[in-house]
Amino acid sequence: MLPKWPLAIFVILISCTSMEKKNYPEIPLPSDPHSFANTKEAFITHLDLNLKVNFDNQILSGTATYDISTDSVAKRIVLDINDLEIDSVQVLNEQHWDLTTFQIGDEKPFMGAPLYIDLPNAHVTKIRVSYKTSPNALALQWLNPQQTHDKRFPYLFTQGQAILTRSWIPIQDSPGIRFTYQARIQVPQELLAVMSATNPQKKNESGIYEFTMDKPIPAYLIALAVGDLDFRAISDRCGVYTEPGQIAAAADEFTDLEKMVATAESLYGHYLWGRYDIIVLPPSFPFGGMENPRLTFATPTIITGDRSLTALVAHELAHSWSGNLVTNATWEDFWINEGHTVYIENRIMEKLYGQENADMLALLGYQDLLRTVSEFGDQSEETKLKLNLTGRDPDDGMNDIAYEKGALLLKTLEEKVGRQTFDNFLRQYFKDYQFKAISTEQWEQYVHQHLLDSLKLDFDLNAWLYQPGIPADHAEITSDKFEKVNGRVREFVRIGRLDLSDTRNWSTHEWLHFIRQLPTDLHVSFYEKLDDVFHLSDSQNSEILAAWLTLSIQSHYLEGHNEKSLEDFLVHVGRRKFLLPLYQALIKQGQTELAKSIFEKAKLNYHSVSVKSIEDLLSEKPLM
Ligand code: BES
Ligand code: ZN
Repeated sequence: MLPKWPLAIFVILISCTSMEKKNYPEIPLPSDPHSFANTKEAFITHLDLNLKVNFDNQILSGTATYDISTDSVAKRIVLDINDLEIDSVQVLNEQHWDLTTFQIGDEKPFMGAPLYIDLPNAHVTKIRVSYKTSPNALALQWLNPQQTHDKRFPYLFTQGQAILTRSWIPIQDSPGIRFTYQARIQVPQELLAVMSATNPQKKNESGIYEFTMDKPIPAYLIALAVGDLDFRAISDRCGVYTEPGQIAAAADEFTDLEKMVATAESLYGHYLWGRYDIIVLPPSFPFGGMENPRLTFATPTIITGDRSLTALVAHELAHSWSGNLVTNATWEDFWINEGHTVYIENRIMEKLYGQENADMLALLGYQDLLRTVSEFGDQSEETKLKLNLTGRDPDDGMNDIAYEKGALLLKTLEEKVGRQTFDNFLRQYFKDYQFKAISTEQWEQYVHQHLLDSLKLDFDLNAWLYQPGIPADHAEITSDKFEKVNGRVREFVRIGRLDLSDTRNWSTHEWLHFIRQLPTDLHVSFYEKLDDVFHLSDSQNSEILAAWLTLSIQSHYLEGHNEKSLEDFLVHVGRRKFLLPLYQALIKQGQTELAKSIFEKAKLNYHSVSVKSIEDLLSEKPLM
């Protein structure tokens, strides 16, 4: 028998607290302006890919077979395609495959076209598309041996985010739609294939590799790389893939990988994807990193020999929670992926390498935010977290605002409610929304419901999400180490003094801060002095070199000093984050002709996403 009194008290308590809780209406997932898919009628639940990789004609060909779920009256299913050649479509009827009719709708700029597949009856649960990619497929970059590290074999990699997967797989290409996948990929015998799935660790005789991703993921996270790849284990569940000539350096750079995963787990709960590996790609990879599940794709420009750029790994790893587990509903909610990720990246770095290190990283990010807001103007639509990208390429809305204003919002919230409360909140959020998509509106409601209401906190979340600029109540970002660097900057500007003894213990972050703070109008001898003593124009650290080259352009130090270094860098590195500021600076200094001539040479080495961004930049009308 239960005693009656405690039960009665319990009932009263429960009803009191629930009376206080506001009743929130359920907010539906928004529709995605960047996909043609009609998911209300029919959606994919599983993809089975069977492709042959042909380096001679730069074409992928084969079949994609889908398990689909339909409502009882569905007459068709709609997939996204971009520049694919569709040979035939079949549906599984009882035990055999029958051809079915299909139509391709009108192409729209950057969206591709809808592929309408007719469903002969409402019981169809499997369909199959036979198709080929175009040699110009936007997601794919085919490299000749000269463009790889070891210069011996060709290479292929894919980049799906934001809406490029449809250029190599007919798919419902929306971050709000998830499915599991498996694949069978046939490649030349001397190469290895790896994907965002279970992976082989060595080559086999047949050149045929099989993959499984048994957790539901959105289309933008399907990824493939094919090359002369070696694997080296770092721990039981972590390792690195890259070309043989670079494998030792890569394994050394990522020595702390296991510790990083364990640190992230201690903060936000179990890592749910099984293995965590990294593949270091050739230098044309257009991003620093891409969070493909189980296998982060990374630029070789983070291999410095001193492990100083591994925040990037913390960032991609953090996406295993924010982005890959809980995904932005549409690209208009992109800040949900990147804002949480930058915040978590910083927490991982703090826990692993200490507060001072994390503070410097946070302040570099905050500087990026201030610069971006001042470039757009603090009333600009572009500075809002929630974007309106209807009719626009989602790639155009992907800038530091999502990353840094998003992270600043989370840091501000953390400060308001206290770290412990905020950590518990985030852990619960990842549980409640795992393997789901979330919109900004749903996120806003969730934060009210699970954080702000019970603390009775007055916080203008609405302004942070839907208004331009940076709200005044933001967390302060400071760094003692950067304060000291500021002192060195002042002294250098005044009397031209900076010695090896001052900088001996500087981290990469301090160097970056120093270079960013230097005025652009010093006498040329000042920049010469820095180059003589610190060899910045020959820096092996890509971040430092990119910052120094940008300053060199802005200060007119370039001519006669490091033009060659600039050209080498622009021709060999395809990472968009480095390229854009450099091309931008050239244009701003009236060096558009130089920018164009370098771009003509360099673009053969760039992935389509970098090419497009730089073409947009070069064709922009100069501001009057
Ligand atoms: N998911 C992004 C890369 C991305 C963004 C691809 C938008 C396509 C469209 C990735 O996680 C990322 O943010 N990479 C950053 C690194 C980072 C440390 C901020 C990069 O590439 O610079
Ligand atoms: Zn990211």
